[in-house]
Formats: sequence, C-alpha cells, structure tokens
Amino acid sequence: MTVEKEYTEGRTTFLSADVEHYSGDKKQISASLPVFYNPRMQLNRDISVLLLSGYLESNNIESMCEPLTGSGVRTLRYLNECTGDFSADMFDVNPTAVETATKNIKLLGLENRAKVLKGDAKLLLMTESREKRFDYVDVDPFGTPAPYLNAAIQSLNPKGGLLALTATDMPVLCGAYPKVAMRRYGGFSIRAPFVHELAVRLLDAIAFRIAGLNDCSMTPIAVLSTDHYVRTWVKIEANRKKSNRQADNLGVIRYCQGCMRTQTIPLKARHENIDFEHDIKNCKGPVREAGPLWIGNLFDSKILKRTNDVFKKDDANIYHKRVPRILEEMLEEYALIEYPYIDLHVLCDLYNLTPPKNRDVIEYLKNAGHKVARTHFRPTAIRTSASVVDVKTVIIDLIGR
Ligand SMILES: C[S@@+](CC[C@H](N)C(=O)[O-])C[C@H]1O[C@@H](n2cnc3c(N)ncnc32)[C@H](O)[C@@H]1O
Ligand SMILES: [Zn+2]
Repeated sequence: MTVEKEYTEGRTTFLSADVEHYSGDKKQISASLPVFYNPRMQLNRDISVLLLSGYLESNNIESMCEPLTGSGVRTLRYLNECTGDFSADMFDVNPTAVETATKNIKLLGLENRAKVLKGDAKLLLMTESREKRFDYVDVDPFGTPAPYLNAAIQSLNPKGGLLALTATDMPVLCGAYPKVAMRRYGGFSIRAPFVHELAVRLLDAIAFRIAGLNDCSMTPIAVLSTDHYVRTWVKIEANRKKSNRQADNLGVIRYCQGCMRTQTIPLKARHENIDFEHDIKNCKGPVREAGPLWIGNLFDSKILKRTNDVFKKDDANIYHKRVPRILEEMLEEYALIEYPYIDLHVLCDLYNLTPPKNRDVIEYLKNAGHKVARTHFRPTAIRTSASVVDVKTVIIDLIGR
C-alpha cells in the first residue's frame, strides 16, 4: 500500500505518495517515488496555469493531454483553475500513478472532463489523438522531452495547438555534454554565463525542426528558466510556408570567455565567414560556438501581458512568491530578447570589480540612452543594447574606481 498524503497547490487539493516518507533523510525527490510528485515544481505549475489562462483569453481549447502525468496535479490544476470546460487525457506508464491520478479526478469531481490511461506516452499520444487532435499538450518528463516531441507534435490540432516542454537535463543543455546536446537537440551546448538562455534556444530549435519535418511551423509563446529546469511554450500549426520562413531563425551564438562578447549569426549568413570582433584589444579568447539553435523571439508579448493581467486580477497569495517578479521581468525582457543577457557578477569577477546594485547599472545605462531590461533568467543579469565594454565602464564609474 502506498503511503499517501494530501497536498494543496493553487486552488487544487489532491493526493500523492507522501514525499517526505519516501525521500529519506536527504529529502531528495527521486524518480523512484511510488508516484512522482515534486513540490518544488509548484512554481513551474503556477506559471503554467497562469500562462494557459493568458493563452485562453484569445485561443480556444477543447481538449488537452498530459502524456507523463504522475499524480495528475498539473492537469488537475489546469482543469480546476483555468477558465473553460476543456477535457483532458492523462497518461502514465506507472500503474500506481494511474491509480492515484484517477482517484484525484474523482476527489475533484472531474470525471466528466478527464481520463487516465496506462501506457507508453509516445504510443498513446499517437493513438488517442487520431479521432480528435489535442489543442494543448504538456510534456513534463524526467530529463529530456526530446523522445516525445514527434508524437506530441503529431497529436496536436493542425489548425494551431499549444505545446509545452519541460527539460531537466541541464548538464546536457548547459555545456557539460555538448555532444549529447547535439545528438538530443541537434546543436552543441557550451559553457557560458548565459547558458540557460542557450538551453531554451536549443529546446526551441528542436521543436522547430520536429515541427518542420511534420510540415508544421513553430512559434514561440514563452520560456521559463528557474531552479533546475527550463521550459518552453510554442504554438504548432500545419503551415509549411511559415516554417520555411522561420528557418531564418536558426543560427549560432558565439561567446568569448576572454572579453564576454557575444555574437549571433544566422545560419544563412554563416558561409560569409563573419569575423569575431572582440570587445577588448588583443583579446585572445577562447571563443566558443553554441548551436545551431533558435536565435529568434522567445516570447509572444500579447500572451505575456494577458498572463500578467490574469495574475494581477487573481489572489496572489495562492501562488509561489517568486511569480510576480518572474512575470514582471519577462515583460521587461521580451523587447530586448535579441541581446543575450550579461551577468554583471560574472563581468565584475572577470575584471576584479565589486558589483554595484543592478538597479544602479540599469538606471545609468538608461540615462546614457541605452536600451536595458532585467531578465527573469538571472537576478544578477541584464539585457542591453550597450556593449560589454560600455557596461564595464558604467560599473567602474558607479563604484568610483
Ligand atoms: C516528471 S514526472 C511527471 C510529473 C508531472 N508532470 C507533474 O507535474 O507532477 C514523469 C512521469 O512520467 C512517467 N513516465 C516515464 N516514462 C514514461 C513513458 N514512456 N510513458 C508514460 N509515462 C512515463 C513516470 O512514471 C512519471 O510519473
Ligand atoms: Zn574576446
């Protein structure tokens, strides 16, 4: 018998295997729980619920699918907390998870809107979507979502479906295993201070390619990077011509460890042998290259604004305390997404400077006529039209050296 516990997230109360009972002294949440539920992912689910609500303001959803559901908490929260009466298919290969998710559906009185099936996610995504495709698929696996991408994209409504992907294989996406990244995501990862941005760009790139091989386009809606995972939301539509045009959004990003200069080069311009211009004279690098990856937009500003409006109208107390700041920072950064973020603490480390307050650097750069924004990716980073050298000069001026 599984030892269960009642949990509440947002407005939803549900049962799952008692995490404390099964995680031992180290309180490590592991895949070996009888039913997987990670309370630390509440922030991810909070933003997911809000973003789906923002999306629903201008899009209709009749059916959704969570092919790797665990306790079912994510889908139960969508059904319970978002507007609309869409239905949900939930799958899991683990029979205990299926049992728990089914029990939770009954507890919440959602029998008319949700069902859980036991089996392999890839197979069920294909078979269960044949009669009616899903309008939203949320892939939240252990590690990488890559193996589920083809089936998830084929299960989506060709007139336009929302796809959400969570990835927790951060060592691969963040440069520890560049060759695994190439094999899994079709692009090399590198180590860099803005590595989480590179991670979401690798994720969007593989979503673009798998969509493309199914004659579909891929339009980014939002990305999220916190703690130990990255997540992306993209819209998939059957549209070859749009997909052809979107190929311009594939490229590489170069980064110099010597001067922190970045350079984004579209794949279509790469044959032109574009030189890397270092930010400081005689800098010898080394210069690393990440990609190919997605170099285009990462956010849909309208959906982001609607998501933030939904949050503001709601009772903020039910959400994780980091939600308001993350949404604010996303709203600031989307317009400057073409500038990879600069981590001011890394810059200060490089030149042996004491980091001033971010707020002061932002103010100074704004007054000097530069575009500048905070980023939700890192509290110590900014996006700016100013060069790294300009930012360094500002820091020196601010700390009076
Ligand atoms: C990270 S957990 C899901 C957590 C859940 N989405 C949430 O928000 O709480 C991954 C789940 O996928 C299930 N799983 C692993 N491989 C699977 C497969 N091939 N098909 C279906 N389910 C699978 C596991 O049993 C586990 O419950
Ligand atoms: Zn350099």
